[in-house]
Amino acid sequence: MHILHVVGARPNFMKVAPVIAALEKRESIRQTLVHTGQHYDENMSRVFFDQLGIPKPDISLGVGSGSHAVQTANTMIKLEETLIEKQPDMVLVYGDINSTVAASLVAAKLSIPVTHVEAGLRSRDLGMPEEINRLVTDVLSTLHLTPSRDGDENLMKEGISPAKIHCVGNVMIDTLVRLLPQAELPDIDGVQSNYALVTLHRPSNVDEPEMLAKLLKTFDEISRDCKIIFPVHPRTRQRIASLDIDLDLDNHPGIVLCEPQGYLQFLALQKNATVVITDSGGIQEETTYLQIPCLTMRENTERPVTVDVGTNVLIGRDCERLKSQVKAILSGHVKRGRIPELWDGHSGERIAEILVNGDVLQDALASSTV
Ligand code: UD1
Repeated sequence: MHILHVVGARPNFMKVAPVIAALEKRESIRQTLVHTGQHYDENMSRVFFDQLGIPKPDISLGVGSGSHAVQTANTMIKLEETLIEKQPDMVLVYGDINSTVAASLVAAKLSIPVTHVEAGLRSRDLGMPEEINRLVTDVLSTLHLTPSRDGDENLMKEGISPAKIHCVGNVMIDTLVRLLPQAELPDIDGVQSNYALVTLHRPSNVDEPEMLAKLLKTFDEISRDCKIIFPVHPRTRQRIASLDIDLDLDNHPGIVLCEPQGYLQFLALQKNATVVITDSGGIQEETTYLQIPCLTMRENTERPVTVDVGTNVLIGRDCERLKSQVKAILSGHVKRGRIPELWDGHSGERIAEILVNGDVLQDALASSTV
């Protein structure tokens, strides 16, 4: 069986690594890895391949940045040629990025079964490009591999046959479990004492100048009580640079802006943080596993298990609430959490087991669809 994986951006890389490793042990499987090039900066892409031990991509499409339509369409055009040439038996797609939806569309139209790793997550917020990507990808997928039971329920409510759904647990946590012993703090001023770790890149937070300015002012206030370590995503850096704001962030005594970190460095930064402030999806999950308080600057989450079971608290866009929550955490009022079911470091193995079992695919193909 020839399996072709499509990845494109940073959060995909932690998910594909354990799947490739588990499938490598199966003699009946041949694998091809395609990197669309949605993320292309050294520190957004190559560092992760090196640290996670992902094999060099067999094919790099070099798609790069662009509007959503341009990025998705360019990926589709280039990937169609690749799939026609390589003729895989199955395409594996990961998460919810533009590369994921582009690959699903191309494969489904060529009648190649699509398996979606991290299927079924829903924020119910169509203002998020990722929610559109999730919905379209799941409609087109033959096999849905979910990270948690809420994913199964969402899919069944949408009419997906249970024969197509398998709860395999959180594959990103496999990578975390494997690499946690190697996590190493970067050499950044301020990481030796209490600090709040910040990441922001969602359009809802960084594309609106007013909101971004309000967030930065709030960090300025928080930094009087606690250092802020802020690895800045390229899109956020562009937005900060064009902001007219009365704050010298390059020489700020309490806010350290730094480059996006490697996986091992960011893992150590999370593990040692007093609190994490973020709008990322994956970081809500990693902090839940590490049992570090997480304050999420979003109105909703497609990962409700991190709130119901884990350490995550949704703050919305309310900066006053953010300040009071950070104060509470600094004075020891910390939300305790548990590690969700099947977030155990063995999801990659479970995925391999499902994919080598020909009956699973046959049952899914034979079952009625939406
Ligand atoms: C993408 C995903 C998002 C994911 C995030 C992780 C979609 C719709 N969004 O968002 O779900 O959480 O990745 O980072 O797919 N840029 C660089 N260098 C790079 C990559 C991007 O400078 O290596 C700049 C470009 O100017 C680009 C901008 O960052 O326009 C945004 O990149 P893009 O891939 O479009 O979306 P992300 O915000 O990274």
